[in-house]
Amino acid sequence: MTDRTTIVAPSILASDFSRLGEEVARITQAGADWIHCDVMDGHFVDNISFGSAFVEAASKHTDRHVDVHLMIERPDHYFPRYTSFSDSITVHLEAQHDVRATLRAIRDAGCSAGLAISPPTSLEGVIPHLGEFDTLLVMTVNPGFGGQPFLEAMLDKVRQAEELRLKHGLSYNIQVDGGINPATALASREAGANVLVAGTSVFKAADAAAEILALRGQA
Ligand code: DX5
Ligand code: ZN
Repeated sequence: MTDRTTIVAPSILASDFSRLGEEVARITQAGADWIHCDVMDGHFVDNISFGSAFVEAASKHTDRHVDVHLMIERPDHYFPRYTSFSDSITVHLEAQHDVRATLRAIRDAGCSAGLAISPPTSLEGVIPHLGEFDTLLVMTVNPGFGGQPFLEAMLDKVRQAEELRLKHGLSYNIQVDGGINPATALASREAGANVLVAGTSVFKAADAAAEILALRGQA
């Protein structure tokens, strides 16, 4: 595995929405690298979280990388509403859009492009899009809710993603998302992941800074 700096991306889905600004500022102070924002439309996943106005409000309380995860049916239609205040925008392979066209449009808008695959989706599905994304998000839970247990079986997919990256000489990030705590973070990093999304473990921790260090393996 190439030694790449670990990026910790707390998910604001696990934050106290009634104190959004304070929560985003708190994890920024605690050492978050990216701020992960889980947008859900109630169609692609059986949950509705928040939209672009909420993410824009959150972005005003951090100087870190804003990482938008669109768990929505029509990411091609909605992603433009995020580009002015986001650094990366991730769309699902399984959603109803022209994946290549959406990834290219996200990059053309000046954001990094991410491609996400849910647990039932095999890695082969991303091969036609190699080179079109800056981050590959391997979901380690079924998308829709925070607080779910980590799916160990996804570690093989992370390993395959790293092999694919090295085989093609690419530099995309490998991001894992769902059930990430210090133990599953270690397993994910060893498998090749370099971006760790963590909602519950960071926002419910007594000491967010210590939890972020633990996720990095620097406790
Ligand atoms: C689930 C989201 C994840 C989730 C992570 O659909 O994509 O980002 O919020 O939450 P935890 O870390 O609590 O599993
Ligand atoms: Zn997410």
